[in-house]
Amino acid sequence: MAESAGRIDGFGLSWVVTDELHIMKLAVDEGRRRQGIAGRLLDDSIAAGRMRGTNYVLLEVRDTNEEAIRFYEAHGFRHIGIRPGYYAETREDAILMRKDLA
Ligand SMILES: CC(C)(COP(=O)(O)OP(=O)(O)OC[C@H]1O[C@@H](n2cnc3c(N)ncnc32)[C@H](O)[C@@H]1OP(=O)(O)O)[C@@H](O)C(=O)NCCC(=O)NCCS
Repeated sequence: MAESAGRIDGFGLSWVVTDELHIMKLAVDEGRRRQGIAGRLLDDSIAAGRMRGTNYVLLEVRDTNEEAIRFYEAHGFRHIGIRPGYYAETREDAILMRKDLA
């Protein structure tokens, strides 16, 4: 979680499954974006994942979520596939992205 002046600016949620770090959520308050907050949260998750022996990071992102896709690309993630209809409410597709940690 990222905080300043007693308010939450952003948060991340990830889990470790064997040697995989899976990013479940990463979000920054709209008024605090483009200031490196998500980058720091992602780096913290990856550092924690490395300590637990993970070798790669996976995540799903909506194929319409340009800013998140640009963000993950800028952090070394590559597109490795599509999960059709991944989002149950809207049946939108997810792009599956991966970053190797080795
Ligand atoms: C995606 C998100 C987490 C990025 O948070 P952030 O704190 O703004 O990201 P950072 O400041 O650490 O990184 C910004 C970098 O990401 C990329 N980026 C982020 N928003 C972008 C946009 N709108 N257009 C182009 N590139 C963008 C750029 O490379 C940018 O670097 P720059 O500012 O030097 O150009 C934020 O936009 C967000 O909370 N979105 C809504 C929730 C979401 O979609 N989460 C991801 C799915 S789990």
